Amino acid sequence: MAKVPLSKLIKFYVRFTPSYSAIGYNLRSIFWRNRPNQFNGQTWLVTGGSEGIGASAARQAAEAGARVICVARDAKKLEAFAQSVKSPIPITWLTADFSRTRDVHRLLEDIKVGGHSFDVLVNNVGIQKHQMILTDEEMETSFVTNILSHHILVKGLLETRILKDNATVIEVASGGMYNHKMVIDDLNITDPARYAGPRAYGLAKRAQCMTMGFWKEKAVYPQQRFYAMHPGWVDTASVNRSMPRFVAILKSVLRDHDKGADTIVYLARERPDQKRSEAIWFDRKERTTHIYAHTPNPGVSAHDVVNHLDTIAAARMA
Ligand SMILES: NC(=O)c1ccc[n+]([C@@H]2O[C@H](COP(=O)([O-])OP(=O)(O)OC[C@H]3O[C@@H](n4cnc5c(N)ncnc54)[C@H](OP(=O)(O)O)[C@@H]3O)[C@@H](O)[C@H]2O)c1
Repeated sequence: MAKVPLSKLIKFYVRFTPSYSAIGYNLRSIFWRNRPNQFNGQTWLVTGGSEGIGASAARQAAEAGARVICVARDAKKLEAFAQSVKSPIPITWLTADFSRTRDVHRLLEDIKVGGHSFDVLVNNVGIQKHQMILTDEEMETSFVTNILSHHILVKGLLETRILKDNATVIEVASGGMYNHKMVIDDLNITDPARYAGPRAYGLAKRAQCMTMGFWKEKAVYPQQRFYAMHPGWVDTASVNRSMPRFVAILKSVLRDHDKGADTIVYLARERPDQKRSEAIWFDRKERTTHIYAHTPNPGVSAHDVVNHLDTIAAARMA
């Protein structure tokens, strides 16, 4: 792995720490008018909902009256989390491994059989891998987990109208996309010599924003809302695992899980209008998906990204 020059690292931390850490959240939240969460009568599906940011969003929704179904791989962890939440309607769960597209298709079947219909989908599963790992479907693991499975789930739920005509879809993306220009052929890098974990992660996160822009523009039901959001820097299990040095430096100022989930809950509650077709919401505000001059790529549209994902997904099904 190429070493990042010290000067670049210093610039990065000076630029982003005040905003993405708990410091930024604490300062901005002084000016927020908080309305209570009221999710009575709603049904939520929260992927990656057994711990971290997803679990916090699931708990806050359930405590405010929603029926919440969480999805993750480990049934024991899901059960322990569901039992830990005291809510009017107990949280339930389904298992699926987002690194396997066939598992996501099976999840869609389980949801259909269960007769569910969702007001809110929080597509929150996300991982960063330092090394290229091929799945048993011969794709790169973080690509499948972070974007392909999300897209299959959103599309499947829209096509079956399991997502209600006034549903809210929230993709948990990341500021990790900011340094990366979308190059479609780099979305699923299966050559270890060309692979770099942060780039694979960043491109998948950019693709999440682009797919939400695609669905927003294409929405058949004008009351449906499609958002991508960035939780800030949050002290979670996956960040501790994948970025131990980052956590060692910033531990004291990282956000807690509720601060990380705040914009998810805000978007579901307020359903604000989004001015741009493609955006990322951060600390309750719509923001641009490009902050560096080198990342816009007019040659690749959201439609191209969706077509690419559809083609790969269809090839898996063949
Ligand atoms: N934490 C941050 O600072 C930060 C910053 C920017 C963006 N984000 C994004 O926020 C989201 C949540 O991150 P987090 O830090 O809260 O993660 P986390 O604490 O590690 O939680 C991950 C959740 O996802 C589930 N999960 C992991 N791999 C899965 C898979 N292959 N299939 C299905 N479920 C899986 C886990 O349960 P199982 O292990 O049982 O499957 C768990 O419920 C991610 O999309 C991440 O990219 C986080």
